[in-house]
Amino acid sequence: MPVTFELNGRSTTVDVSPETPLLWVLRDTLNLTGTKYGCGIAACGACTVHIDGEAARSCVYPISSVSAKRVTTIEGLSMDRSHPVQEAWIEAQAPQCGYCQSGQIMTAVAFLKKTPSPTPQQVDAAMSDNICRCGTAQRIRKAVLHASELMQAQGGAR
Ligand code: FES
Ligand code: FES
Repeated sequence: MPVTFELNGRSTTVDVSPETPLLWVLRDTLNLTGTKYGCGIAACGACTVHIDGEAARSCVYPISSVSAKRVTTIEGLSMDRSHPVQEAWIEAQAPQCGYCQSGQIMTAVAFLKKTPSPTPQQVDAAMSDNICRCGTAQRIRKAVLHASELMQAQGGAR
C-alpha cells in the first residue's frame, strides 16, 4: 500500500510492504545511503533520522507509521554541509571511519534544538546511546559544544 510522507522537504510516496523499516526504504528504495545500518534493533543509533523533528531510529520504524509525517535525513540537513552542526563536526574532525557519524549528527541536531546551551555532561548523556566503535566520543563532545556556540552566534537552532 502506498505511503506518502515528507522527506527532506519534498512530498514522497513509496509503495512497499507496510512493515518495511524506514531505514531500508531510505537506503534501498530511495537511494539515500547516508543513513546507516548498524544493529537493526534500535541499540546503536547509526540509523538515526528525524521524524517530525524528533530523533528516531529508522531501523525499527515501520514505513506505515511514517505516513503524513516529516522525515529528515542527513542528506536533508543542508544542501552544502553548512548546517552549524556539520560545520562544527568538520572543524573538530570528529569522524574516524565515519560509519556512525550520520546518526551522531542527527542525534546532536535534535538534542541542540531542545538544549541550546548544554554542559559537557549533558552532551555526553545525550550522545551516549549512539555507539562509536572508533572511540570518537571526545571529539563529538567538542563538536556538539562548538555547534552550540555557532548556533547561538547565528541566532538559535535550525
Ligand atoms: S541500526 Fe538502528 S539503532 Fe542500530
Ligand atoms: S567513527 Fe567509526 S564507528 Fe564511529
